[in-house]
Parts: sequence; C-alpha cells; structure tokens
Amino acid sequence: MIDRDTIEQITNAAKIEEVVGEFVTLKRRGVNLIGLCPFHDEKTPSFTVSPAKNYCKCFGCGKGGNPVHFIMEHEQLSYPDALRWLARKYHIEIKERELTNEEVQAQNMRESMFVINQYAQQFFVDTLFGTQEGEAIGMSYFRRRGLRDETIKKFGLGYSPEKRDTFATTALKAGYNAELIAKTGVCYSTDDGRLIDRFWGRVTFPVHTISGKVVAFGGRILQNNPKAAKYVNSPESEIYHKSNHLYGLYFSKQAIMQHDCCILVEGYLDVISMHQAGIQNVVASSGTSLTTGQIRLIHRFTSNVTLLYDGDKAGIKASLRGIDMLLEEGMNINVVLLPEGEDPDSYAQSHSSEEVEEYINRNKVDFIRFKTNLLLDEVGDDPIRRASLIGDVVRSIAVIPNDILRSEYLKKCSEMLNVSEQLLVSETAKLRLKHAEEIYKRKQQDTPNSRREENSIPADDEPATIPAESQIQQATASNNPLHNKERAIIQFLLRNGDKLVQVPEDKTNGTPAFTESVISHLYYSFQGDGIEFTHPLYKRIFDEASQYASDIDFVPERHFQSHPDAEISHLAAELCNDRYLLSKLFTENKTEERNESAVLFEQTTRLIISYKQSIIDELLKQTMAQLKDPEIAADSNRYIEVMQNLKFLKETQQALNSLLTQYGFGSAALNF
Ligand code: CTP
Ligand code: MN
Repeated sequence: MIDRDTIEQITNAAKIEEVVGEFVTLKRRGVNLIGLCPFHDEKTPSFTVSPAKNYCKCFGCGKGGNPVHFIMEHEQLSYPDALRWLARKYHIEIKERELTNEEVQAQNMRESMFVINQYAQQFFVDTLFGTQEGEAIGMSYFRRRGLRDETIKKFGLGYSPEKRDTFATTALKAGYNAELIAKTGVCYSTDDGRLIDRFWGRVTFPVHTISGKVVAFGGRILQNNPKAAKYVNSPESEIYHKSNHLYGLYFSKQAIMQHDCCILVEGYLDVISMHQAGIQNVVASSGTSLTTGQIRLIHRFTSNVTLLYDGDKAGIKASLRGIDMLLEEGMNINVVLLPEGEDPDSYAQSHSSEEVEEYINRNKVDFIRFKTNLLLDEVGDDPIRRASLIGDVVRSIAVIPNDILRSEYLKKCSEMLNVSEQLLVSETAKLRLKHAEEIYKRKQQDTPNSRREENSIPADDEPATIPAESQIQQATASNNPLHNKERAIIQFLLRNGDKLVQVPEDKTNGTPAFTESVISHLYYSFQGDGIEFTHPLYKRIFDEASQYASDIDFVPERHFQSHPDAEISHLAAELCNDRYLLSKLFTENKTEERNESAVLFEQTTRLIISYKQSIIDELLKQTMAQLKDPEIAADSNRYIEVMQNLKFLKETQQALNSLLTQYGFGSAALNF
C-alpha cells in the first residue's frame, strides 16, 4: 500500500505534458498541446494535453485523465504500479506499508532474479555485437534469416557462446549468487555443483513482461540437428509462469490497442519478421496452445483476434481447443491461412506490409465458418462422422457469451451443414445448460486458494483493468435522470465542496441566516429527507465527503483526485476537468453583482431542488403505475392509500417549484 501523502506528492509532481511527452510527440496549440492519440489509430491529432489542468483527453476516443491515469492506460499498469512508475520518474521515494520478513525475502528474491535476467540479457547482446564468435556465428545467422540490425536491437536478440560455462563464469565473477542464477534458469547446476549455461551455442530471444522486464529466454539452435531441440526455453520459476506471458506483447501492445486487433502467430521469428515488415500488432503463443491467462492478457487490449497460420493444416487441428477458449472469453476470432509452404515469417520477409495486410483482409474467415469448413472437408459423406462434426461445431458455438452473435453463427452453420436451425438451437441450449451446471458445481467445490492460483499473474504485471472507465462511461451516457443529477452534484461538490454558502434566514420556521460549507449544506439537505444516492460510485464519494462536512482543512478536489481507490480518483479527475457540464447547467447572470457565497447558495439550492424533483418524478411514475394495477384497483383500502401518496407527491412537487420562486431564483429548470 502506498500511503496517501505519497500519492499526493506524486500527483503534485507529475506534469501531464512531461508524462504524455514520453510517448507522444506534442505540438503547442494555444494554451494546450496536441498530438496523435496513442489509444486509437488516427491521422489528425485529437489528443489534447492541458498543462494548466494537468489533464489529457482524446476527443476521438475519449480516453485520458491525469498523469496517473494516462500511465495506467498507456502502460496497462495497476494504480499502484502507475504511481510507482511516476515516482521513479520524479525521484520520489515511496512510503509503503511495512512488509513482513517473509514478504521482504520473497520480494528480494524475485527482484534479484529479474536483476540476473537483465544481466544475462546484456551479456548475450554484448556477446552478439561485441565478440568475434557472436559476430561470426550469431549475427551471420540472424542476417541469413533476413533480420536487420535495428530489428535485432529492438527485440534484444543475443548470442550465448559455445563454451558451455562462459556466462556462468562471468556472472559468478561479477558476484552473482550461484543459487539464484540457477533459480532463474539461465544456467542449470550439475550433480557435482557446477553451473552450465542453458543456452550455450544458441541465439537468444528475451521474453519480456508487459512492462518490459526480461522474464525468460528462448534459445534457438543454429544448425539443423535432429537430435537436439530446436528451441530451449527458460524453465518455470518464481518469476516465470509460461502460461501468463505472450511473446512480443511488450512491443505490440500499443499497436494492438490502436488497431483494436491482435494477430496471433506461433513463433518468435514470426513475430519479429512481421514487426520488421511494419505490422506490429502481433504476438506469439510460442508453439503451445493458448492458456486462459494468455487470453486474458490479449483481452486487456482488444477483443478481436486474428489467427495467422502456416499454409499446411497439420498444426491447426491441434490448436482448435485453445480457440474455443477464446470464444468463451467473448473474443471475435478470425482465421487466415497463408499460402501452402509459407509461415508468417517467410511471408512477411517476402512481401511488403501493404501486401501482408491485404492478404490478411482478403483471406480472413470467422472462426466458426473456418472450423466448420475444415471439418467438413474431413468427414465427407460419412453420416456418423457428420453427426459428430455437428456436435463439435455446436460445442464451439455454445460457449460464445453473446446471444446475438451465437444465433447468427447458428444460422450460418445451419446453412453450411445443411441441418435445421431449430435443431442446432436446441442442441446449443442443452449444452449451455449443462455447462452452467458444471460451472455451478465447480464453484461450490472451489476453495478460495485454488481460484487465486488460476488467476495469479506475476505481481509485476497485475491486471490493469480500470473498472472506473466502464462505470464512468456508463454514467456519462446514462439516461437515468437520477444518475445524471448525482453526477452533477458530485462534480459541484468536488469543485466547490469546501467553499462557504450563505444560507438566508428561513421565516417559515424561524431559522436565522447562517454560513456553512457547500458539503454540509448538501449533506443536511439530503439527510433531512432520508435521501441516498442511487449510483454506487457517486454514493461512495458523497458519503465519504459527508464525513468531512465540518472539517475546514478538507479540500475535496485534492482529496478525491489522489484517492487510494483508482476508480474514485479517475472519476474525480474526469469531473474536475469537465467544465462543460457545469457551465451548461448554470447560465450565469453576469449583469448582477453578487458575492460568491450568494451565487454558490443559489447553485447549490438549484442542484438540491432539481435532484429532489427528479426523485419525486420517479416516485410519481411508480405510483401512477400502481393505480393501473388491477390488484390494487380491486382493493379499496390500498387504492385509497396509493391515491393519498399521489396527492402528497404532487404537493411536494409544487412546494419544490415554489421554493425556487420564493428564493427569487425563478423556476427555470436546470438543463441536464
Ligand atoms: N518452440 C519451442 N520449442 C521447440 C519448438 C518450438 O519452444 N522445440 C516454440 C518457439 O517459441 C517457436 C514456436 O514454438 O518460436 C514455433 O515453432 P516453430 O514454428 O518450429 O519455430 P519458428 O519460430 O518458426 O522458428 P524457425 O523459423 O527459426 O524455425
Ligand atoms: Mn519459422
């Protein structure tokens, strides 16, 4: 846990133009800076950075926020990791909760393992570029494979010498701990306790975490040797869980986001050659079939996956199962087969990026159609095998979470397979029911521990979902009038909550004039009527602010923008920077000279009354509906009760309206 003071220190130090400027080329335009949005593909800049507001926003795709949110989104980091990122940049020391001894040890070990990997990485690169052996063997191999120097450098490719302990000896001499070296798997220890380089005589491919740390290596043999494995990879370790990584994602995440599509290939060289050809939204599953962890990784960036396969169909059938998992996760999947004898590597080496792109676009087929065709080719006319094929296709369709998509696929497949759609629909329904029952059973057996195992991701790369995003957008686009008003009140509270309002004397009950903070005024006005916010996020903010109603040191804007909860801080930043809503709300009467607290009183009161009006409207609607209910109409007692409610609500509505005129505000409604 990072403490609140440190969060505040970081948010104060981080300058939006400097942070964004690390990733986007910015040009000055008036008081703002603009550049090409890093979150979607665009030709003319709509990404606006405001140094004054310390805020950025894309007018195309709507993404943005303060420096922390920008880093979260751009680097796909969790809130604490984004804060750490900025702390490093601005040399701020992070005060965290004290770790237990065990935690310290575990963390030290993980960190040391990353340090050793980084050291090995540098060693392999230096050997490739700086030694005769590296140049003669490693470099000449890469050149033969058509890789340019800049590509080799970008992917950090290296070479491990043929002498079997060159790295081990160097690392030990440099003071690295033998046990930890073996733990990372760059070397393995023999029975008599010597360290041997795992990748000796091979070119090396570092595998990066999403944030760019080297977590493992692959080493490719240079000669064709049927006795030795073509690739040797780092073993699983405390820091490396193969199933949670995808080769190339660190280099591709940006392009995947921009194209809203991820191209999935099989091998290291497929990724590298595609990048070199100019197609950068490519990652590799590294030969094995996909895992749920890898699918979730892709899903952070896009829901669209294009599988790019070699021309020969042998490998494809083996990976079909992994693909059902993609469907289950709600991904849209297309498949592209390359011409016979080509793989993505060879195709990208011999074609321009336009040609590759055109090939992909022209040949992509949705996965269900692809699978159906593939199996149809196989079964021919054999009725029994046909029946099992239908079952197979239906199983794939049944896992698709989206109802509309599912029914579209069923329609398509009924045509392709020449069976009635009705039959497919009922088969799918049966499977879904069975599936739901299985999940239910599994959940009941599931201990909390085993569930965590399944979702565990190296701490370095915690899932970077910004749940606030969805809620904020949902709230922005809401046509729920209560939510809209709650949002406006929260926005008003963030900007003005600590300011003072002059509450005039109330002659109806003899209360004299007095002064209180905007927060207090809002809080007591709602509490008196037992009103609670209906939107969960707005409610959390309002309730928290209410606790500070009488605290004069409380600055809501600062408090909520540097809130330890990312969801709240994100919303707060967004609301503080959206001037549009409030200015639309209050068309100021500029001709009249009034002091600020009088203006604030009017604005606060208008907001309160307007919110209460909406609540009454909502209740009126419900009550009117009750009157039409035949059961209530038949029961005269209940009917009278409802009628009385209705009368009360209408009176309250009138009272609210006249309150506005009584204060001399006029009865013009606020524009929501
Ligand atoms: N792979 C592996 N171990 C092997 C073979 C393959 O880990 N013994 C993984 C590697 O990540 C490899 C991927 O599976 O990149 C695909 O295998 P393959 O198509 O055989 O390798 P390519 O990447 O095409 O390598 P190259 O073009 O150099 O033969
Ligand atoms: Mn290949």
